[in-house]
Amino acid sequence: MDTRRTWGDSAGDLGESGAGSAIPSAGVAATRGLLVGRVAVVTGASRGIGAGVARRLGREGAVVYGAARTLSDLEAELAGMPNARSVGVDVTDSEAVAALFREAVDRHGRVDYLINAAGVLHRAPLAETTDGEWAESLAVNLTGVFFCSREAVRRMRAQAPDAGGVRGHVVQIVSGAGVRGWVGSGAYSAAKFGVMGLSEVLRQEVRGLGIKVTEVLPGMVATAMTERSEFERRNKLAVDDVADAVLTVLTASPAALIQRLDLRHLQPE
Ligand SMILES: NC(=O)c1ccc[n+]([C@@H]2O[C@H](COP(=O)([O-])OP(=O)(O)OC[C@H]3O[C@@H](n4cnc5c(N)ncnc54)[C@H](OP(=O)(O)O)[C@@H]3O)[C@@H](O)[C@H]2O)c1
Repeated sequence: MDTRRTWGDSAGDLGESGAGSAIPSAGVAATRGLLVGRVAVVTGASRGIGAGVARRLGREGAVVYGAARTLSDLEAELAGMPNARSVGVDVTDSEAVAALFREAVDRHGRVDYLINAAGVLHRAPLAETTDGEWAESLAVNLTGVFFCSREAVRRMRAQAPDAGGVRGHVVQIVSGAGVRGWVGSGAYSAAKFGVMGLSEVLRQEVRGLGIKVTEVLPGMVATAMTERSEFERRNKLAVDDVADAVLTVLTASPAALIQRLDLRHLQPE
C-alpha cells in the first residue's frame, strides 16, 4: 500500500517551538536536509521513540520505511511524510522482515540505516513473570533485533559504499536496562543485555566492511511504554531527544564509529 502524502498538513511539522516562537529549538526544529538520498528502515515506527526517529529522519530528507504490527497506527503516524512508507511487519517473523528489506532495496537500490526501535516491556518480578511474558520479551526485544540486524547487514554488505566508505549503519535502541539489571523488569533486562552482546559481536564482524553498529541507551522516555503510575514522578526524556541522538550518531564523520551513546535526563528525579 502506498502511503505517500505531502508534508505540511500535520502540526508536528512545526517542531516543538511552534510557528510563532521567536527562538527556534536548536534540535527538533532545525532541518538541514542531512539525509537526502538515504534510505532508512525504522522498526516500532507506529508510536513512541520509533515514530519520533522516523519523523526526524524523514525531515532530514531520508526515505523512511516505518515498520510495526499495527498498520493503521503506522499510517496515521507517518501521514504527511511524502518520503515515508508504512509496512505492517512483526519483527519476530523473519520472513516478513526479509520481505521488508527486499521491498526497500528493490525500490531504492539500497538500505543505508536500520533503527531497531520495536520493543515491549512487561513489569513483574522474575518469580511472577509468566511464560508468555518471558517469551514475548525475548522474541520482540532480542530475536526481532537479530532478525532485522541480520537482514540489514546482508543487504548492506552487498551494496557499494558511499563516498566516505560507509556501506550502512545499524542503530539499536537499547536501554539502561541493557547494562544494569532493572529490578521488576527481568525479562526486559535479559533481552536488552542480549542486544548489547549481539551488537558488540556484530560491530566487530562488520566494521571492516564499512558497516557501523551503534547502541543508543536512553533513560526513561515519555511514551506509552512508561505511562504508568509507578513512573509518574520521574522526569522523562522526550521522544525528540532520542531522535536527535540518533541523528547525531548517523551524521558523525564517516571514519568515526560511535559505539555506544548513553542518554539520560539531566535531572531524572
Ligand atoms: N520509553 C522508554 O523509557 C524507553 C527507554 C529506553 C529504551 N526504550 C526502548 O525503545 C524502544 C521503543 O520504546 P517506546 O517507549 O517507544 O515503546 P512504545 O511507545 O510502546 O512503542 C513500541 C513500538 O514497537 C512496536 N512493536 C511492538 N512489538 C512489535 C513487533 N512484534 N513487531 C513490530 N513492531 C512491534 C509497536 O507497534 P505495534 O504494537 O503496532 O507493533 C510500537 O510501534 C523499545 O525497544 C524500548 O525498549 C524505551
